[in-house]
Amino acid sequence: MVKTVSEITAIRESCLVVAGVLSYIEKFLNPGITTLEIDELIEDFIRSKEAIPALKGYKVHRNIYPASSCISINEEVVHGIPGSRKLAEGDIVSIDVSVQKSGYFGDGAKTFQVGEISPAKKKLMKITQESLFLGLDNARDGNYINDVSLAIQQHVEAAGFSVVRDLVGHGIGKSLHEEPPIPNYYHNGYRGKFKEGMTVAIEPMVNYGTYKVKVLSDKWTYVTADGEPSAHFEHSILVKKGKPEILTLGS
Ligand code: MF3
Ligand code: CO
Repeated sequence: MVKTVSEITAIRESCLVVAGVLSYIEKFLNPGITTLEIDELIEDFIRSKEAIPALKGYKVHRNIYPASSCISINEEVVHGIPGSRKLAEGDIVSIDVSVQKSGYFGDGAKTFQVGEISPAKKKLMKITQESLFLGLDNARDGNYINDVSLAIQQHVEAAGFSVVRDLVGHGIGKSLHEEPPIPNYYHNGYRGKFKEGMTVAIEPMVNYGTYKVKVLSDKWTYVTADGEPSAHFEHSILVKKGKPEILTLGS
């Protein structure tokens, strides 16, 4: 799970493209744009950086993902498929992008607001992003993976929200999803530790109400079981002895 210097260089490159996408796309997230139009802008941006949209054609079990990004609105948690749905004033929209360049992957996600949003949604986004940063700060050589998970869970639950359990963060490198899993909740008995040179994606998915989720009949889109909104922030990081390097932060 520990990467070589040249592998880290390649992962860093892919992660920079991810950061570029998430900063480029924000100005387009206005009422009326369809999620498919957003996805096309994302695909063009990725290809203009000589990179490959890694989600397109990505297989989970028998299912092949059809787009370059996952776009999940309001009660959609993750893996929303871009299509004819239009963004509307007051929505929150989570955009998750994975990129491959020179055989190595980068992965990141961010939730954006569309126009003016409710104070409740604003707080949900803020707490989710804070939990990501509080969590990833614990991803240091010798620490338990549970240290990250617990920091995320405590911050989220102190605010009265809940962390999704059915999906977790992951190692990243030659594959999009590698060992080790990085849960966003304390996992009793999980002894996994961080080691310098590991690259991992940490990605809290935080629900306003219940942590329970279900998958729609399109076989991809996760939604909250109670229909309340959800937010998602993700960074790929490089584990060091001290503070990790956040690879998808960009410049
Ligand atoms: N970028 C997503 C992640 O954070 C990848 C989801 S894979 C999908 O792990 F194909 F299922 F969407
Ligand atoms: Co991920």
